[in-house]
Amino acid sequence: MNDCRASQLVNSFIQSCSICSRLDIELLVMHVLEIDKNILYRDDPFLTSQELEKIEKLIERRETGEPLAYLTHNIGFWNLDLYVNRTVLVPRPETEVLVQNVLDSFNSERIAVLDLGTGSGAIGISLAKDRPDWLVTCSDISLDALKVASINMSRNSTNVQFVNTDWLNSFKPKHFDVIVTNPPYINSSDPRIFSDGLKYEPIEALVSDSEGLGDIKKIIQQGSKMLKDKGCLFLEHGYDQSDKVVDIFKSYGFSGIKSLKDLNGHNRVCVGQLNKC
Ligand SMILES: C[S@@+](CC[C@H](N)C(=O)[O-])C[C@H]1O[C@@H](n2cnc3c(N)ncnc32)[C@H](O)[C@@H]1O
Repeated sequence: MNDCRASQLVNSFIQSCSICSRLDIELLVMHVLEIDKNILYRDDPFLTSQELEKIEKLIERRETGEPLAYLTHNIGFWNLDLYVNRTVLVPRPETEVLVQNVLDSFNSERIAVLDLGTGSGAIGISLAKDRPDWLVTCSDISLDALKVASINMSRNSTNVQFVNTDWLNSFKPKHFDVIVTNPPYINSSDPRIFSDGLKYEPIEALVSDSEGLGDIKKIIQQGSKMLKDKGCLFLEHGYDQSDKVVDIFKSYGFSGIKSLKDLNGHNRVCVGQLNKC
C-alpha cells in the first residue's frame, strides 16, 4: 500500500482481520504513530513504509491472540497507567474488586500493607496512589516482574518498597496489617492455559499445584503468621474455588470470613481477619 493514510489503513485492515477489532487496529495505529484518536481522524496522517510495516507486524501478532497490552506495552488499571511486557500478567478488571475492597475497609491512617505476587505492581501501586500514607510493600519471586513494577511506581508517581522473595519467606512475623494477593490459581490440567487469552502470559503467574490451590494454601498458612493481630488477608481466587478457600481460611484461624463477588457475580475474593475478638 503506497501513500496510505491512517484512516484508510484502519478500514482496509477491518476487512481482512478476524480477531482484531476496529478499536484494536485504531489503538495499534495510534501506538505506532504516537498520536491520539483526535489526530488520527482529524489530521489523518500519511504513513511511512516503516510505520506501515510496524503496524502490519503488530496486527499479525494480535491476530494470533496475543493480548493488545503486550503489543502496546500499556494498560489502564484502577486509576493507573501501567507499562506491561510478557514477564508479567496483564492486570484484569476483576482484580479491581480486591483494590476497591481494601480501600473501603481502611481509612488513610498509616498501616503496613503487602501486595504479595505483585507482577506489574497493579494492586500495590493502586493502593499507594489512593492512600499515600500507607506503607506499601510489593513482593514477587520474579525479578523481571519487579523491574516492571518499579517502572510503574515511577510512572504513577507513587512510593512503594520492593522485595524479591518466595511468598512470605523474607518477612518478619506479625508485621503487616493487610496482605492482599492475586496468586496463581489455575489447575495445570485446565485447558484454558493453552487458550489464546492466556498462552502468551507467564505460566508461573497462572498455574498452581494441588488443583490450583497449592499457592493459596501456602499464602494463607504463612499469612496467618505474618499478619498482626486483627490483620486482614484479601485473596483473589478462581470462580469455582470459593468454598475450598473459605475452608482453608477457617483452618488457619481466620474469622469474619467474607466472599466477595466480581463484576460477573462470581465469588472471586475471600477476606479473613486474624484473631478477631
Ligand atoms: C496472577 S499473577 C498476579 C500479578 C498481579 N498481582 C496482578 O494482579 O495483576 C501472580 C504473581 O505471583 C508471582 N508468584 C508466583 N509464584 C510466586 C512465589 N512463590 N513467590 C512470590 N511470588 C510468586 C508471579 O510471578 C506473578 O507475578
